[in-house]
Amino acid sequence: MKKFLALSLMGTVVALMAATKGIDEKLAAKGEKLWTKKGCNACHTIGKGKLVGPDLKGVTERRKPEWIIAMITNPDSMLKYDPIAKEQLKKYGVPMTDQKVSVEEAKAIIEYIKRESQK
Ligand code: HEC
Repeated sequence: MKKFLALSLMGTVVALMAATKGIDEKLAAKGEKLWTKKGCNACHTIGKGKLVGPDLKGVTERRKPEWIIAMITNPDSMLKYDPIAKEQLKKYGVPMTDQKVSVEEAKAIIEYIKRESQK
């Protein structure tokens, strides 16, 4: 009986891990707060369609982490020099504003976007 309990407990843990696909929950929760504090939600949704800027659902699968961090922490330079960002600007017609986000904060926001993208 004890063995069975231990096994089913392990099964639950494995299932939980699979469901969250390695999301750092603490970091994602920090990112969720920053998402509204830094005003990302004024221009973006995650899975609810285009707003002022693109829907960010699945953005971590479309772009490299370094690219996303650069876009969040330094949109001005990205919109000036990066070919993908420049292309996006043509499409959306509005420049993303610098929301004064640090690299650490950007990482938390990205974890939140990842978590929301799985919903
Ligand atoms: C004033 C509106 C505005 C705000 C505020 C804003 N963005 Fe953006 N964002 C945009 C627009 C518009 C684009 C598309 C490029 C462009 O036109 O500048 C974009 C592009 C992006 C991209 C690239 C998306 C892709 O598919 O390549 C990411 C990632 C992103 N924003 C994240 C954020 C995060 C995180 C925040 C909050 C810190 C934020 N943005 C705040 C308007 C905004």
